[in-house]
Amino acid sequence: MNSPSEKIKTLEAEIRSLKSRIKELEKAEIRLMKAEHELIKNEKRFRELVDLLPQTVYEMDLKGNLTFTNKYGLQSFGYSKQELDKGINLFQLFVASERERVRENIHSILNGNPSRGNEYISQRKDGTTFHSLFYSNAIIQNGKPVGLRGVVIDIDDRKKAESDLKESRDQLRNLASHLQTVREEERLIIAREIHDELGQSLTALKMDLIWMQKRLSPEQVEQVQKVRSMSALVDTTIQTVRRISTELRPGLIDDLGLQAAMEWYCGEFQNRTGIECKLELNEDEFQLEQDRVIAVFRIFQEALTNVVRHANATKIYIGLHRNSNLLSMEIRDNGIGITEDQIHSPKSLGLVGLRERVNPWGGKVIISGVKNMGTTVKVTLPIQDGEK
Ligand SMILES: Nc1ncnc2c1ncn2[C@@H]1O[C@H](COP(=O)(O)OP(=O)(O)OP(=O)(O)O)[C@@H](O)[C@H]1O
Ligand SMILES: [Mg+2]
Repeated sequence: MNSPSEKIKTLEAEIRSLKSRIKELEKAEIRLMKAEHELIKNEKRFRELVDLLPQTVYEMDLKGNLTFTNKYGLQSFGYSKQELDKGINLFQLFVASERERVRENIHSILNGNPSRGNEYISQRKDGTTFHSLFYSNAIIQNGKPVGLRGVVIDIDDRKKAESDLKESRDQLRNLASHLQTVREEERLIIAREIHDELGQSLTALKMDLIWMQKRLSPEQVEQVQKVRSMSALVDTTIQTVRRISTELRPGLIDDLGLQAAMEWYCGEFQNRTGIECKLELNEDEFQLEQDRVIAVFRIFQEALTNVVRHANATKIYIGLHRNSNLLSMEIRDNGIGITEDQIHSPKSLGLVGLRERVNPWGGKVIISGVKNMGTTVKVTLPIQDGEK
């Protein structure tokens, strides 16, 4: 048995150890309180930041009930904090036709597929709608998904800007195409007027000069010479009138078609520029409506003009082929080669016009160049609408 004094000693030792345990516990509690305080401070900071965001931030549970949204979210969808506390379901934020897609996408995200941004038509409480982009992630707790959290971006302004841009681009396209048509019509009229009016008057003048020449006696040397030089002048003027009117609108296009007009133009071009022109045409003639013929011919003309003006080439190859419903034309020179910058420059209006020419029928123009090897212009154009 322990003596009473020994008992007291043991008790005193126990009291000391208890006291130090209490101190440790007190310290631990202070640490815990500090941590809790820090947590509350961080949570407050995080909420304040989230509330400052000019985009919606949300969290929802597996049933789609919203468990959190920032101030902007409430404001942008037109709900109050009280309504959120009473319960709002995520599906209420979409027009009815989007809900199935939303369900599928949520399912996919919960299954671990990352969302790269889904575009929807969202619906506010008052029924008005806007275009939205949802970026969401699964909320994982203990290794299991328990809901979604994400950000919603209002892309109405962007959509509007996109559609305005498309509209003005379409308008520009229509204007360009209208201007081309007007230009072609005017060229045709001027070419005909020059050819018919001027051409006929000059022919009449030429016949009058022949009439005069016949009536002059050989002794009237001066007069004979004058009439001769007048006649020569009228001849060259007739030539010039012909050249101008065919440049404006090669009559061959209307009379004999695209291939014949290209053959003729190549011959003229070779004579005029000294650049060797190799033309390879589709074996069979094919029918192409007049507007498309003019478009292809004008591209061909512009490409050839570019070769003389910029390429410093000695040879040009031109191929025109038909593959079922697709017409393809290739114009290749052996010059200095167009650069990427020149191809894509908005200042290259000739090239812009080239592309626009076949755009109304879904045609394409691809331009490429290799330094000191040459430039290639490839055109494809459906022969008829609707077929492949
Ligand atoms: N065949 C070619 N070889 C080399 N460079 C070319 C060729 N075709 C075009 N380029 C380059 O591309 C540029 C743009 O051509 P584009 O036809 O748009 O304009 P342009 O011929 O200078 O003027 P225009 O508006 O009168 O046609 C040219 O200035 C030239 O530098
Ligand atoms: Mg040009």
